[in-house]
Amino acid sequence: MSKRDEIFALLLQADGFFSGQELSARVGISRAGVWKHIKALQAEGYTIEAVRNRGYRLQPNGVRQQEIEAYLQTEWLGRAYRYLPEVGSTNIEAKNWADGGAPNGAVVMADLQNQGRGRLGRAWSSPSGTGIWFSVVLRPRLEPSMAPQISLTTAVGVCAGLQQLGYNAGIKWPNDIYIDGRKVCGMLTEMHGSMESVEWVVVGIGINCLNKELPPEIKDVATSLAIARPDVPVVRAQVAAVIFQQLEKYYNLLYEQGFAEIRQQWLTNNITLGKRVKISTLNETFYGQALDMQEDGSLLVKKEGGDEFKLVTGDVFFA
Ligand code: BTN
Repeated sequence: MSKRDEIFALLLQADGFFSGQELSARVGISRAGVWKHIKALQAEGYTIEAVRNRGYRLQPNGVRQQEIEAYLQTEWLGRAYRYLPEVGSTNIEAKNWADGGAPNGAVVMADLQNQGRGRLGRAWSSPSGTGIWFSVVLRPRLEPSMAPQISLTTAVGVCAGLQQLGYNAGIKWPNDIYIDGRKVCGMLTEMHGSMESVEWVVVGIGINCLNKELPPEIKDVATSLAIARPDVPVVRAQVAAVIFQQLEKYYNLLYEQGFAEIRQQWLTNNITLGKRVKISTLNETFYGQALDMQEDGSLLVKKEGGDEFKLVTGDVFFA
């Protein structure tokens, strides 16, 4: 553990103020050194009061490992954990860690992404102090053609976690999570392996949590937990831990029982089927009605005017 993490852990465990003198003795650095780390934690976005003769008091409002662990009940997901105050994209960090041997269930979490990436090459806005931006490394025993099952299972897990926390969450094909008709969470799944087997899958998940406002280009179609339910206080570490637990539950279910039960859960919680939709693929744009999510994860759409269309990659808009 770094000196900064040690200071953070002591402040987190403290019930109230923790004296600077004691911090310096426990961590084995000067009081000026302690102050330097306190400033750095404040710059990361933590509220830490500094009061003469009393010491420091932390208001935990972040996603460092110690904060997550205070709520975490998983066996394997999120137990290996890397927190980065600022990063380009957690997916890139997780892919590098996966290549370097990260265990199944390892998580990379950031407070801020300066190059957050979305599906189909888009950017993903990830400002500091507002969201949960993380990537999970999975090492499933699956054939590459089953990779969409991982994405759909992820959607089921995140949706269940948000519902457990009291949000009226639903899934838009393939794996966007919506609350009250607006997107609150997106996922970006990347994979590495051979034709026969998957070596690792990195699932990147972004959840808007504390944003009071969203960038103009998405504000009409996106939301955050705080906007959706201003009456519920959002503790990001708790939200993350609940979602880790639901993800672990549904990944276990997928590995042990196959995709059929996950598909049922997806169907139960989806907000896509039966709706009039606009479909946009690389080659065409058309309107139709969403009919089914099939065993291979594709979306079956009845085109206006006739044929059925099997959508594997593309965008779905409510029309
Ligand atoms: C989408 O809906 O377009 C997918 C958005 C995925 C965003 C998450 S945030 C954590 C991880 N790191 C990234 O750069 N992207 C994913």
